[in-house]
Amino acid sequence: MSRKVFSFVTLVLVAALLVVSCGGPAPTEAPTEEPEEAPPEAPAAPGGELEIFSWWTAGGEAEGLEAMLEIFQGQYPDVEIINATVAGGAGVDARAVLATRMQGGDPPGSFQVHAGHELIDTYVVADQMEPVTFLYEEEGWLDVYPPDLIDILSYEGDVWSVPVNIHRANVLWYNTAVFEENGLEPPGTMEEFFEVAEALEAVGVIPLSLGESWTEVHLFETVLLGTLGPDAYAGLWTGATDWGSAEVKEALDNFDRTLDYVNEDYAALSWDQATQLVIDGTAAMNIMGDWAEGYFKAQGWTPGVEFGWAPSPGSGGSFDALSDSFGLPKGAPNRDAVVAWLKVCGSKEGQDAFNPIKGSIPAHTGADRSLYDEYLQSALDDFAQDAIVPSLMHGAAASPSWQQDVIDAVGLFVGSRDVDAFQDALSAAAGM
Ligand code: GAL
Repeated sequence: MSRKVFSFVTLVLVAALLVVSCGGPAPTEAPTEEPEEAPPEAPAAPGGELEIFSWWTAGGEAEGLEAMLEIFQGQYPDVEIINATVAGGAGVDARAVLATRMQGGDPPGSFQVHAGHELIDTYVVADQMEPVTFLYEEEGWLDVYPPDLIDILSYEGDVWSVPVNIHRANVLWYNTAVFEENGLEPPGTMEEFFEVAEALEAVGVIPLSLGESWTEVHLFETVLLGTLGPDAYAGLWTGATDWGSAEVKEALDNFDRTLDYVNEDYAALSWDQATQLVIDGTAAMNIMGDWAEGYFKAQGWTPGVEFGWAPSPGSGGSFDALSDSFGLPKGAPNRDAVVAWLKVCGSKEGQDAFNPIKGSIPAHTGADRSLYDEYLQSALDDFAQDAIVPSLMHGAAASPSWQQDVIDAVGLFVGSRDVDAFQDALSAAAGM
């Protein structure tokens, strides 16, 4: 059990896998009686328009999506793809647009959605999705995706979306030239981080780049993980860890101290603009999910050359995980084309085209490791051996309303820097 106990911890629906294997809608059966005439024709290949909705607009992620769309287009040349994007990292803006469309009965063909609470609590319980269990059965996916991932994509005996990747949230990225010039090593612990940050500040380099609101929450969850460790961090989302405890207070103090070392204009920057500060050498470090790797590479940087990485301070041995997936909305226009798209999303070929560019590891365990660069191979290794914990900011750990309460609390805190009030707000958000 050990590391799997807190794997994607909150939505473990114990019956799911078992029921899934016998409960989904059966694939269309061939008629039992032979027709008298000629054998049935093969189903027509899908055509028409297919709208794919996502928030992948930044360097790396946009190209990754493009690569997967090309695979689709190669297989289904008669389908006209509408690549519908709403900019805004972590989907903060896209999700609002999508919610309005779903409620108004105007779903896109398929849309990007985080595995876990974001998928289930938002769209599945609202009866806005079709189960895709039949695809898992037809394509043999029940055997090729990590069981814990299938768990959090499942609800009431069905699977509800197709994962395209696994991202790691707790990564510290750094500019190797700045570190070398100043004789620095990437920090392993929170204390080492503060020492490195002091040294950088002394030479006039911004220690840590930060961006808009959601990136603050992203940073916050990595500091929680780095201070509390994987068990207590995971316990925050199950009720096992007391938000009012001294250990959480220590994490909040660490977050408070960390904020002393960020760029002043953080609130005005998108995640990729914050990452860009590291490329410019204005800042030395950035804590961001590994889509930042895709961004670095899209700007011509090579992993292990111009940029290095380490687990965010204190979080070595833990993998703060999230997964992007695509689903089948009820009433989706051109359902046949959507099903064809989902098959590409779930395939080894689709994932091997997408993930090496996106900066994520494949959810499909049969993927070709040799296509993945040095960083991504290290992430594959870490995912196989680390304690896996769920990301809050990226939809896995907590319900959307709890997540929003934490976002609000962090927003207030970065202004007030009142740790006690912050802890009270977080405890209240957890119902403690
Ligand atoms: C995450 C998403 C990633 C990436 C990132 C920045 O929520 O899972 O795929 O898009 O936001 O936008």
